[in-house]
Amino acid sequence: MILTSMKLKDFRNYENLEIQFDPDTNIIYGDNAQGKTNILEALYLSGTTKSHKGSHEKEMIRFGENESHICTTVLKDGREYKIDFHLKKNHAKGIAINKIPIKKASELFGILNIIFFSPEDLNIIKNGPDRRRRFIDSELCQIDKIYLYNLSNYKNALQQRNKLLKEIYYNPSLKEILPDWDDQLVEYGKKIIERRRRFLQEIAPTVTELHRQISGGKEIAKLSYEPNIEDMFFADELVNCRERDLKQAQTNVGPHRDDIKFEIDGIDIRRFGSQGQQRTCALSLKLSEISVIESTTGERPVLLLDDVMSELDSNRQNFLLGSLKDTQTIITCTGLDDFVKNRFPINKVFEVVAGKVFEKDENGAIVK
Ligand SMILES: Nc1ncnc2c1ncn2[C@@H]1O[C@H](COP(=O)(O)OP(=O)(O)O)[C@@H](O)[C@H]1O
Ligand SMILES: [Mg+2]
Repeated sequence: MILTSMKLKDFRNYENLEIQFDPDTNIIYGDNAQGKTNILEALYLSGTTKSHKGSHEKEMIRFGENESHICTTVLKDGREYKIDFHLKKNHAKGIAINKIPIKKASELFGILNIIFFSPEDLNIIKNGPDRRRRFIDSELCQIDKIYLYNLSNYKNALQQRNKLLKEIYYNPSLKEILPDWDDQLVEYGKKIIERRRRFLQEIAPTVTELHRQISGGKEIAKLSYEPNIEDMFFADELVNCRERDLKQAQTNVGPHRDDIKFEIDGIDIRRFGSQGQQRTCALSLKLSEISVIESTTGERPVLLLDDVMSELDSNRQNFLLGSLKDTQTIITCTGLDDFVKNRFPINKVFEVVAGKVFEKDENGAIVK
């Protein structure tokens, strides 16, 4: 799939923006706080209906305005898809594909697969497990509609169960309905555990291979699933944990507590790895997403790199840039030095200055 263009109206600090992307590498550079990340956020929103940083929809509407429009065009299998995204201050958002309004976000599924890579992702190994769960979920939700469905049902059941645990404190007779929510949790939870296991088994060899290459053949990293509970024991363990759950008014067992384990020579690098090992592993994990999406959907995703180049040493920069062949990439950065130094081919360059975008040639002269 190729992202061909995007129009913004009253989105973040853009009053009006129209931008045509190159099918290969696009660089968007500019000083801080000019609006580079906002462009990537709008693209991510178009593909996934969510902000990459979890912002509320209303926050993204330009200050002082009541609505925002994002219009992207995508070329897939020789067909053009126009995704219209309409954010409103006082109403629910509206999405249309080729002018036909859609009712469920899942109808957008598969039109624009996007990978968002930010400097924070480089800390995915050393940060807490919630970031790693979010990685699995954002990945699987893009490639597996059933997972998306199971996950949203699980989250809903979990929320309801936790609410009920609090209510039981004041009204103990409500305890009777707890098993109903346990059943829901187990039904969807087991499917989530099974799918996560399969997904991590699939990506593990790719992560090991990428890590081996980046470390110059020196390190063998092993990724594995670390479920909070095995699916077959989930129902029993919920019963075992019930008293504790009631006391703490929270659900202590289930896939909402899952993690991914990373080892090098048997050492858990989440806790004991050097910063270099953790970053190499994070980069490998992120790059493995490209091949997972391609092998499951048959399409290469669009890669958004938000200011990550400056966070990497030149060895990792080279590796990253070298792996982008045949992948449409949109890179934000503060300057072009890293690309010039690495003699990396750039197809289109844009400069962002205070919510205005100028297309430039390689000498820095304005094209448009
Ligand atoms: N809803 C909004 N309306 C107008 N401006 C906004 C809104 N949200 C953020 N901004 C502005 O966007 C700018 C930050 O943009 P960002 O894309 O994060 O910059 P960077 O170029 O550093 O990536 C800030 O100046 C901020 O005030
Ligand atoms: Mg930014």
